[in-house]
Amino acid sequence: MKLSAYHIAGNKLRTTHILNVKTESPTVKTFTFKDKQCAKAKPGQFLMLWIPRVDEIPLSISDTRKDGTVSVAVKKVGEATKALHGMKTGEIIGVRGPFGNSFTKSEGKILMVGGGTGIAPLLFLAKRLTSKAAKLSFVMGAKTREELLFKNELDALCTEQSTIATTEDGSYGLKCLATEPLETLLNKEKFDMIYTCGPEQMVRKVFDLAEKHGIALEASLERIMRCGIGLCGSCIIGRFRVCRDGPVFASHQLREVKGELGISKRDFNGKRIPLE
Ligand SMILES: Cc1cc2nc3c(=O)[nH]c(=O)nc-3n(C[C@H](O)[C@H](O)[C@H](O)COP(=O)(O)OP(=O)(O)OC[C@H]3O[C@@H](n4cnc5c(N)ncnc54)[C@H](O)[C@@H]3O)c2cc1C
Ligand code: FES
Repeated sequence: MKLSAYHIAGNKLRTTHILNVKTESPTVKTFTFKDKQCAKAKPGQFLMLWIPRVDEIPLSISDTRKDGTVSVAVKKVGEATKALHGMKTGEIIGVRGPFGNSFTKSEGKILMVGGGTGIAPLLFLAKRLTSKAAKLSFVMGAKTREELLFKNELDALCTEQSTIATTEDGSYGLKCLATEPLETLLNKEKFDMIYTCGPEQMVRKVFDLAEKHGIALEASLERIMRCGIGLCGSCIIGRFRVCRDGPVFASHQLREVKGELGISKRDFNGKRIPLE
């Protein structure tokens, strides 16, 4: 595979310092640092973050600013994310990217459906879309009230109504999965575009509902990633490499991978395993 100049430039590892660490929830922290190249990223793109002596992991970019700063919202799940959560302002990290494609900007009536840290790239997109005066509604889901991320920021951006929040334990909003109020909403209202990101079973349900109602959809997917530039093959879904052809996929592409979407993924050895 031939690499573009864009990929070659972005693929060079740059070291930088953590400028700010913000606790968003008991398991999620937002890390901000300076990186000129990633500061040019579009909503949906991701970067590879190197945690010295531990690992390099893919993370969606959750915000960029004109001063060259970039943010990522990270959930503590395993060795690398635990080590990152232990890091403080001033410590060194490495960055490659930005990689992958981005959400396409659409106008009209827009619905976003996010779960867990999947809300972060949608917040980035929402910030860019509202400047285009799109009509925006948001359905968000989390396990508990404390894990409902960026609710206030999203309420401020939604033009239609405040966000519809769901929690699995009923500690805030509706006690159900994010896809339940979605079904009611889609029976009532017509949307021009749905954007979604979050646990893949949720993404699958959102995709099925969008298909049923004939609404265009873009979903950001996650797979195991190593190189981030389409070379190693660890992020395969169907005929696609998520790092290069995605991570954002449109309805026509998702139809091709229906046998895997929300059902299975590849493990670190390339073996197909069921999604938890
Ligand atoms: C495009 C993309 C964007 C992502 N954006 C975010 C984000 O914004 N915030 C966030 O908290 N997480 C995000 N993730 C998931 C994040 O990369 C994993 O949670 C992280 O790599 C886990 O590493 P660990 O060592 O802490 O956990 P481990 O114990 O090593 O793994 C825990 C689980 O994380 C997943 N994982 C581990 N390593 C990788 C890897 N190299 N690539 C992909 N998944 C992996 C696996 O499903 C694994 O079962 C994203 C993943 C992808 C592919
Ligand atoms: S991560 Fe290597 S091909 Fe996608």
